[in-house]
Amino acid sequence: MLKEKFVEFFPFVAYLSLGAFAFMLIAATLALLFFKPQTAKEQASKSTAWTLTLALGALAAGALGYYLMAAYDYPKMAFKVAAALVYAIAFAAGGSLSVTAGVRKTMMKSLYGLVATMFAAILFLMQFGGHEAENREFKVDLSDEKRLQHGAAVFRDYCLSCHGLALVRTNQMLKLGLSKEQLEATMLTSVDKIGEPMHVAMRSEDAKVWFGAAPPDLSLEASAKKPEWIYSYLTGFYKDDERPTGWNNIAFDKVAMPHVLWLEQGVQTLTEEGRKKEPAHRTHEDLVLTTPGLQGAEDFDRTAADVTNFLVWASEPDQNQRKQIGVGVMLFLALLSFVAFKLSKNYWKDIR
Ligand code: HEC
Repeated sequence: MLKEKFVEFFPFVAYLSLGAFAFMLIAATLALLFFKPQTAKEQASKSTAWTLTLALGALAAGALGYYLMAAYDYPKMAFKVAAALVYAIAFAAGGSLSVTAGVRKTMMKSLYGLVATMFAAILFLMQFGGHEAENREFKVDLSDEKRLQHGAAVFRDYCLSCHGLALVRTNQMLKLGLSKEQLEATMLTSVDKIGEPMHVAMRSEDAKVWFGAAPPDLSLEASAKKPEWIYSYLTGFYKDDERPTGWNNIAFDKVAMPHVLWLEQGVQTLTEEGRKKEPAHRTHEDLVLTTPGLQGAEDFDRTAADVTNFLVWASEPDQNQRKQIGVGVMLFLALLSFVAFKLSKNYWKDIR
């Protein structure tokens, strides 16, 4: 139990702490660079601080570099970096109260410089967001429980046979507004017990032989790939007789997955124009629906959207609650800051 909680929260806490840690180190380095010691004692503590900062800095640089390389979702990453920065400023502001006025001043000055640099860096990083293959436009919407339930049902019927959601426990489905009875009747197979992870029966070694590639677990798909991409992928299958499955995909050339929703969507084929293009440059504009499916084009887009939203939800089943709690916490913090500010003013009144 404790271990699962740890696994669930560890990456988040680790990234946040790592970010804050790195920025504190940068701030400390800048402060040390500009701080002119007046006494021998200050000189000695400056040397100690340098040693410590450099040692920790080497450690943090390695870890942060690794993290930045692993995170390819730049807007999200920029947000995390910004959050870490705010954290660091709060830290530094608090810490600076206890050091001498000279250090505090230099530290604040370096922080202003750091903030400016960071904003420039964030703007720079955000440039990378839009340069992938053209995905269809998609807006994540987790507010409609009925549609999330629909996405979950489609997933159970068409996807769970190959893809697990190992990080989602079946009872978390209750958070989608299903009752326990509905959950048992509709989401579980005969062998499942409520509360077990949503594993798939197929062994991935077998799947590799059958499909040429193992269907990945999709618990974190919406974090690894953009929701736009998943939506484009689910609506992007087209007929390709050169593929073993008979299907190819706009968003994933030579994909090993068959078009499991083809009865619903119908059959799309490449246009003349699309055929001439390199696979990587093909978009949905290059597809035409040559055989209609059970659902009209609009309805199928809705179905694909529901599944996509469900996968976004599944990547973090508590995100709706987290956002609600988050608003409360921010309000509380705002109130607390106001009170703290007033109190501090009052305390210092006689001293200044
Ligand atoms: C018959 C088995 C099978 C079924 C059913 C199936 N898939 Fe797949 N899926 C695969 C395989 C195999 C791959 C790996 C494709 C590859 O690597 O070429 C895959 C890949 C994917 C990927 C891309 C993963 C990635 O990041 O590389 C997504 C997303 C996906 N499937 C979603 C779904 C959804 C949603 C459904 C239900 C509508 C579904 N799949 C049903 C076999 C299946």
